[in-house]
Amino acid sequence: MRLCLFYNKHNYVFVLLRIVLGMDVVESDYNLSPVPDVDVTVVKTNGYYLPESSPCDQRLITITGGTPIPQEDKCVLDYYNILQNMLQETGYPETGDRTSQPKSTTLEDISICILSSPAECMAILLEGGKRCPGDMLLVLSTTWLSKKNSKSHKRLYSLYVHKAIAFGVAGQTFLETYIPPRRATYFMNFCNNVSALWQIESGTEIEDNLDCPTSSSINLRRMTSDILWTRHLMSKIGLDFPETVGFVFGTYAAYSNDMTAIRVVHVDRKKTDLENIVSAEVTKFLKRCIQNKVAMIVVRTSGMMWKDNNRLTLHYSNEHEGIIKKVSELFAWINHGDAVLLETFIETIKPAMVANGPRWSCTEDSTICMRSIVCRNHVDTPVTTNVTCGISLVRDPVKEDDTICQPLNVTLIGYGVTDEAERDIFEKEVREKSADVLNIIMTYESELNTSERGGLLAQTDVIGIEFVITRRNGTLTPVGIAVKSHNCIAKCQIFENLYPKMKGVSVRPLVETMITRSQKFIMVGKSILVIGAGGYSRQFIWKAAEGMGIQVVLVDSDPNHSAKNEVVEFIHVNFSDHTQDEQHAMTISKHIKDSQIKVDGCLTFVEDYVPLTAMCCELLNLPGATKTGALRAKHKSATLAILRERTADLPNWPKACIYTSWFSPLRSQDDIEHVKKVGRFPLIMKLEYGFCAVGVTLVRNPEEMEDKYKEIRAILKTPKDFIGIGLGHGNTMMAMEYLVGTEHDVDVIFHEGQLVAAFISDNGPTRVKTFTETTACMPSVLPYEKQRQLIVAAYQCCREIGLKNGVFNVEFMMEQTGPKLVEINGRMGGLYLRDWIRKVYGTDLLLSAFEISCGIKPYVPDPIPMGQMMGIMCIPSLHSHILKDPAYASKWKQLEATGNFNLFDKHADVGAGGFEFPFANIAVMEKDLQTARQKLMAITKDMKVVHPEYDVERFLSDFHRT
Ligand SMILES: *[C@@H]1O[C@H](CO)[C@@H](O)[C@H](O)[C@H]1NC(C)=O
Ligand SMILES: *[C@@H]1O[C@H](CO)[C@@H](O)[C@H](O)[C@H]1NC(C)=O
Ligand SMILES: *[C@@H]1O[C@H](CO)[C@@H](O)[C@H](O)[C@H]1NC(C)=O
Ligand SMILES: *[C@@H]1O[C@H](CO)[C@@H](O)[C@H](O)[C@H]1NC(C)=O
Repeated sequence: MRLCLFYNKHNYVFVLLRIVLGMDVVESDYNLSPVPDVDVTVVKTNGYYLPESSPCDQRLITITGGTPIPQEDKCVLDYYNILQNMLQETGYPETGDRTSQPKSTTLEDISICILSSPAECMAILLEGGKRCPGDMLLVLSTTWLSKKNSKSHKRLYSLYVHKAIAFGVAGQTFLETYIPPRRATYFMNFCNNVSALWQIESGTEIEDNLDCPTSSSINLRRMTSDILWTRHLMSKIGLDFPETVGFVFGTYAAYSNDMTAIRVVHVDRKKTDLENIVSAEVTKFLKRCIQNKVAMIVVRTSGMMWKDNNRLTLHYSNEHEGIIKKVSELFAWINHGDAVLLETFIETIKPAMVANGPRWSCTEDSTICMRSIVCRNHVDTPVTTNVTCGISLVRDPVKEDDTICQPLNVTLIGYGVTDEAERDIFEKEVREKSADVLNIIMTYESELNTSERGGLLAQTDVIGIEFVITRRNGTLTPVGIAVKSHNCIAKCQIFENLYPKMKGVSVRPLVETMITRSQKFIMVGKSILVIGAGGYSRQFIWKAAEGMGIQVVLVDSDPNHSAKNEVVEFIHVNFSDHTQDEQHAMTISKHIKDSQIKVDGCLTFVEDYVPLTAMCCELLNLPGATKTGALRAKHKSATLAILRERTADLPNWPKACIYTSWFSPLRSQDDIEHVKKVGRFPLIMKLEYGFCAVGVTLVRNPEEMEDKYKEIRAILKTPKDFIGIGLGHGNTMMAMEYLVGTEHDVDVIFHEGQLVAAFISDNGPTRVKTFTETTACMPSVLPYEKQRQLIVAAYQCCREIGLKNGVFNVEFMMEQTGPKLVEINGRMGGLYLRDWIRKVYGTDLLLSAFEISCGIKPYVPDPIPMGQMMGIMCIPSLHSHILKDPAYASKWKQLEATGNFNLFDKHADVGAGGFEFPFANIAVMEKDLQTARQKLMAITKDMKVVHPEYDVERFLSDFHRT
């Protein structure tokens, strides 16, 4: 067996490790010259525990003519051995060696790079391997990395990974080399001078001036490890902390002068009267302590001095001289910006003696240390994943490392807190306060500039918080002690290994954030051809794309479209006659090619341009829906006709024909006569290429059918008669069974014919006669099984008609036998859907659509709903007062500002033939259905949306769980 672990990029010397298992010296894959003399070096482990039988009995062989191992690679073998040991102990396979087959990756690949010893970050690596197999990379030495000028940012660098240990789905690991080196899309650095123990420091400089997202930076860690500053934040969010006096050397920007509960004394080592200042402050502090009956005082250092974490001593509050001496002593140890702290010692609660309590109950001589882990999730919400405790016997401030971590509830049970409700309330408080701490750190960071943050995309993605548990007025109360940055993570894997049910949970939101930030980074600078600007409801796209760093090249028929000035490049092509789409597609692609505009993807957000866009994709050789799929989707009866023929048994799914109901195209008078004879009345007539229920009519008998048919065809002839409802494709009609059930939208993300994610929304009953949508809610109230049937149906229908890549919107009726397809829209769901899905699930369909157009498979975190969305449509015939009556202007603007009002059209006008289109949606997001319904009812009353002809109560009546 052979392992190519060493690689020193600086002088292009390759150092090979050979595990001596009775084999001959192996040649290097990179052997540039004949094998020189062999020099043997034995690397000692630095005291880390390794079992005797582990591969630590290895010898290092350099085949570089005796060149010694570079200093920064000294750790590699240790780290590698630690990894093998950790894998072996927890039942994972040994790391495989794939260095003989270098991998090549593209700029579209996620590369999460963690420079660390595996001892620090195993929980992240394993969870990352599951979520993005092969892209979660453990880098053991800075020599496995290099920096090159960034293509997107002057003066910044991209980080490249030459070699890494890549993690797979089930804990598999492979030592890989990358040729060309792969660009890091996220960087987490444990090997700088301020991170956790056991690490080499050679990675301090590598994180300077990177263009990629990072989990922190030296500057940010300086802040989070500054106990004075974090206690200041605790005071702001109402979290208790010990009363503190801080002697700070030098000033540090993070201190504002409004630190009410904390006294900060700036000191200068050179000052002659230093001792007097200290003495005076200490005296004042101790006097207060004695008054308040505080028995004990802690003296400690604060700052990035991880190595001195345990420079912490406990004193009685009457030990005046001793305390002054200790404080002065510590001055010698601290750096500029660091501090010596004097604080009250917070006593942990005493265990209550409970009759019949467990035999492992705690006694008076025990104490608890508590810690929470808080991750920033993929939508920038802080999530407290785990609250763990350790119990120890010593009364001195406890070292958490010397305890066995266990969940809070078990700890409290051991402390005689028998009331489950009391335990739950306390845990909830700890979780909320912990999340608040990260939240306020995030807010603070968001106001910093790049150099203050210490990196363009540097932000704090994870913290740990240490607490003491006390009682205040009889109530269990957490007291915050200190915030930890990266060094909180090593505890996660111990916790997860002890309690395997917790595998992955402690860092899952963090890993999802790493992947999400990576994908956003990858999209920056992409240039995307968008076909058609669309109406008012699509206006948000241009700003949103700009915010994502995406350059939009827009093509539209209207040379003066308002979106023209909001995009990077505007091309005018008149493609309003969709019968000529093939020709338009050629014109557009020729223009793109001739003018040498770089486009990475092509898509549309407008229903009518779906086929044209698919044609453009094919001509430009970009991933798209496929022309066949797009044409079928656009043509309603063609969609159903294809599915009706799919009668074969399928091995994985129900037959696809099951999703269709009776229908008939109405192409000619013969078709009409036929339907009049065989149709099951009442039935529905609608436009083949229609959109949003415009033109949909219920007909009760054959006579009515003939009349209505003529009437609609006369009113809705050309696009001018009703803009944006598909008349550019013609005004042919079809007849369809009148389906009885509830209506549902399924918004699906498709990549290479595979389903990436699906989101269901429920629609309330449509208005009688006009069939316009009234209300909607998300998440769906359907039971899990019915939801799954919808998702599978949406997937099958899209796939069967040949849609391949894109974000699509599929409408179903849920009938007693299961989902029946209404129609497939070959583009992103319109109106409020993107907004809702983003709010409820944190997934941005717009970003997903852009990603797919560039051939990138979007990463969609587990869809866990963050609330209950419920909304109601406003229609011109009944609600135009909202836009037209000035009395409502401030009301709707206010609703809009809070995200509760979605305006689709600035003109609330009824269209031709009395057909109409909702112009706005009023929505609420609440914690549950009932609250949402009540809130929405109140708003709709206030806005006079409720109307004798608009029975909001009835429209909302379907939204309850069965
Ligand atoms: C760590 O390195 C940074 C950058 O080189 C330097 O500014 C800082 O003072 C160092 N900190 C410590 C604790 O060594
Ligand atoms: C740990 O965190 C996860 C995710 O938040 C949660 O599901 C689990 O119940 C937590 N476990 C404990 C013991 O706190
Ligand atoms: C502690 O809480 C976890 C989940 O939060 C639960 O699974 C476990 O059963 C609880 N333990 C006890 C002893 O109540
Ligand atoms: C405890 O109760 C007293 C009297 O009810 C009140 O003045 C005090 O503010 C309370 N302290 C805390 C920490 O809640």
